[in-house]
Amino acid sequence: MSAAGLGGLALVGRGRAVAEPQVGGRPVQVPEAGYVSSQTCRACHPSQYASWHRSYHRTMTQVATPDTVAASFDGVTVDAVSGSAMVLEQRGRELWADFDDPDDDWGLSRVRPGSDPGQTRVRPRRIKRQVVMTTGSHNQQIYWYATGNSRILGQLPAIWLTADRRCIPRRAAVMRPPSASHVSETGAWNGICLACHTTNGQPQLDTPFGSQPILTQTADTRATEFGVACESCHGPADQHARANRNPLRRYAAHLTGQPDPTIVQPLRLTPQRSSQVCGQCHAFWEFADAQSERHANSRGLPYRPGDDLAATRFIVQPTKNLDSPAMKAFLESDAGFIRDIFWSDGMVRATGREYNGMIESPCFKKAASQDRTMSCVSCHTMHKTDDDARQIGEWADDQLAPRALGNDACLQCHRDARGPQRTALQQIAGHAPQDVSAHTRHRADSSGSSCYNCHMPFTTYGLLKTIRSHQISNPSVQATLATGRPNACNLCHLDKTLGWTAQYLEEWYGVTRPALDSDESSVAASVLWLLKGDAGQRAIVAESMGWTAAQQASGREWLTPYLALTAKDSYDAVRYIAARSQRTLPPFRRDQLPRGNPQLLINADGTFNAEVVNRLVRARDNRRVFYRE
Ligand code: HEC
Ligand code: HEC
Ligand code: HEC
Ligand code: HEC
Ligand code: HEC
Ligand code: HEC
Ligand code: HEC
Ligand code: HEC
Repeated sequence: MSAAGLGGLALVGRGRAVAEPQVGGRPVQVPEAGYVSSQTCRACHPSQYASWHRSYHRTMTQVATPDTVAASFDGVTVDAVSGSAMVLEQRGRELWADFDDPDDDWGLSRVRPGSDPGQTRVRPRRIKRQVVMTTGSHNQQIYWYATGNSRILGQLPAIWLTADRRCIPRRAAVMRPPSASHVSETGAWNGICLACHTTNGQPQLDTPFGSQPILTQTADTRATEFGVACESCHGPADQHARANRNPLRRYAAHLTGQPDPTIVQPLRLTPQRSSQVCGQCHAFWEFADAQSERHANSRGLPYRPGDDLAATRFIVQPTKNLDSPAMKAFLESDAGFIRDIFWSDGMVRATGREYNGMIESPCFKKAASQDRTMSCVSCHTMHKTDDDARQIGEWADDQLAPRALGNDACLQCHRDARGPQRTALQQIAGHAPQDVSAHTRHRADSSGSSCYNCHMPFTTYGLLKTIRSHQISNPSVQATLATGRPNACNLCHLDKTLGWTAQYLEEWYGVTRPALDSDESSVAASVLWLLKGDAGQRAIVAESMGWTAAQQASGREWLTPYLALTAKDSYDAVRYIAARSQRTLPPFRRDQLPRGNPQLLINADGTFNAEVVNRLVRARDNRRVFYRE
């Protein structure tokens, strides 16, 4: 009965209706294994359905149609990779693309021993394929084409960048070394992306993903529903929907408000288990062992909401399990993984992995009782509530609960904080706005009085932007020195040195000052990160230079020359961010530079101290930074 709810029928070609399971060339939506799809919930839970429908969870994965693709396919030519364009075309309701085959071996397989491979072919083979699926909508949209081999998809070489309303090469959208070689994404949808971008996804590959060249494999890939739908978080609901067809039961349940044992309500789980519901996707994890990987490659992942996630997955936690056999084996195959994705103290630095950050927070780890343990739903709400006056689109962006928009996010638990800050925090709890200052040392209405800005700074990178770290931490110069991670104070006070910050942390919070070298005590921290930092640090600082709060605290005039320099960075992602930050600034006027400011390396005559700038750039950390995005 419930299968019909899905629409069950898809329009293919010239209006011919084909039942979904019979659609070829792409994965299909087939409810099974107790899953029934969101259409089944709609009639009984219209309000939850409506807010979910507006969420980016729903639009994460869609069948490509003229209505779901953000890019225009109207005979458009877009730059895909340097020198080769991609042509998009719409034929009736069908979408097509003409592009360089990412799986072409450039004729190398036909090279005879002894001949010069360079002579074989100058250009990769062009192919024309139907575009059948999309990934994403909020920040960017990736396009997938039917490879012609079973349900295996290939990825178009250019993506849609939502904020700019234009297409850019896919490789320019990820943080990767400029010299990194091209990697084909063919089959990745079937083998990888569906785990977190669909509901009850099942690769159904004939042999494990990655064990053979993908185009020699076949896959009957399916999911209950594309996108992150109700049952991703509430578990398979066939039994629940059946049970509640009985009006008496419905009436009784409504009246008593008792838990319904036929369905998972994350709020009724412990904070640990409810966060795992999100952590099944918002985390770096690996398969527990080879056997579970094989199982996942065919039947999908065994985790169901309410289960212990750690029982069937290996959650990467460098502070804990670097020495475990699973991690060792993993690192052997991919040594750069930990270094690229985590700061050296184990804090996660890539977006979409908020669970790894949160479980390392004192608010999660040190809580003495369940009702004081942090979880994702301490701050986020997956359905917009009635007491929330915001427009639904505003809520959908980050899906924060009204209480989590400001300092109440923390004060809901920290009204009676213990420890050295106790008195100050207790005063905050009294809620007289000026009292916040006792702890923050900034005016109550200052951006420097926001708990988030000091304890969840923008040090996590992904999707061409930075987001707040989800590991609660204190501003610390010591941690900056140990890991290279910009601290919250200097990420807003861009014109100040690490020495300046260390001095105030000592004066205000009694934090011992670490030893600093001469650059660290004489050159603004942001300038050091931008000139000699690795690509990850450069991206974070370049983004902060476009942040209103930082511009207010640090002045704006001096930022333009530094951003102009960064707009020539060798990393596409860093260049992109620097250029975006630059657009937030007024036109440059040399006469407005803060002259004679050695911290910013500006001489008395308004020129830059080229000697130091060059020395710092020469000392740059050129390690290859590669984010798994
Ligand atoms: C035939 C009606 C019906 C259908 C279909 C239905 N539900 Fe329910 N659901 C109920 C009733 C009745 C309750 C209990 C009282 C209430 O919340 O109105 C409930 C409660 C819930 C709860 C809260 C449980 C608790 O312990 O508080 C969740 C979560 C839920 N449903 C999710 C779903 C999802 C997800 C689907 C679709 C996959 C679904 N429901 C389909 C009728 C239905
Ligand atoms: C471990 C789970 C996981 C896997 C596997 C995964 N993703 Fe994601 N992805 C996420 C999460 C979580 C987000 C949300 C990140 C955010 O908003 O900060 C996301 C976001 C995205 C976005 C941005 C969407 C938007 O609307 O802006 C794109 C694009 C994307 N993923 C592509 C992919 C591709 C392609 C694959 C497969 C190669 C993949 N992801 C595999 C979890 C995953
Ligand atoms: C990304 C995870 C997620 C998705 C997707 C999701 N929910 Fe929920 N749902 C939650 C969480 C978490 C709660 C607890 C309250 C909250 O956060 O809004 C909840 C609460 C509920 C409740 C209980 C409301 C109450 O007041 O007791 C119902 C009913 C429900 N969801 C139904 C649905 C339906 C129907 C869908 C799909 C149309 C859906 N949910 C999609 C996570 C999700
Ligand atoms: C089945 C995988 C999955 C589950 C379960 C899931 N998410 Fe997501 N979430 C994603 C993906 C993928 C995205 C990217 C969607 C986008 O932004 O386009 C995302 C996006 C988000 C966003 C950003 C929305 C935006 O673009 O502004 C938030 C916030 C979020 N999830 C929180 C949660 C929370 C909290 C839970 C648990 C209650 C949860 N998610 C459960 C996969 C999941
Ligand atoms: C759901 C409750 C909860 C929320 C929300 C919460 N915390 Fe906590 N936090 C705790 C608990 C519990 C501890 C452990 C120490 C304790 O019991 O006070 C803690 C510890 C801390 C510590 C370390 C104190 C120490 O003893 O090491 C800091 C700093 C902190 N929280 C800051 C914040 C900030 C900033 C926010 C908001 C962004 C926040 N917390 C939100 C519950 C919470
Ligand atoms: C103490 C409050 C708090 C908690 C707890 C929290 N978040 Fe967030 N989250 C935020 C805030 C604030 C933002 C907006 C940050 C920003 O604009 O960068 C956010 C943003 C996000 C985003 C959107 C990132 C983007 O690309 O824009 C995702 C996804 C997300 N959170 C997931 C989670 C998950 C999953 C958990 C639990 C593991 C969680 N959050 C716990 C406060 C919280
Ligand atoms: C200007 C930056 C700044 C702001 C804003 C700020 N804090 Fe702090 N907070 C600190 C520093 C610095 C420390 C202590 C550093 C240390 O001891 O290493 C600290 C310590 C704490 C602690 C641990 C104290 C203890 O009991 O051990 C908690 C809890 C805390 N802050 C919560 C909050 C809350 C809640 C807010 C928002 C109302 C907030 N902070 C705003 C800088 C800030
Ligand atoms: C999000 C931005 C932000 C953060 C984070 C922040 N501040 Fe500030 N700070 C400001 C602003 C804005 C002012 C200007 C006066 C005001 O608004 O209170 C200021 C003023 C100051 C001043 C006095 C004026 C000056 O320039 O000498 C000091 C000292 C200071 N901050 C130190 C710190 C320290 C130390 C930290 C970290 C513990 C910190 N700030 C974190 C924004 C911030």
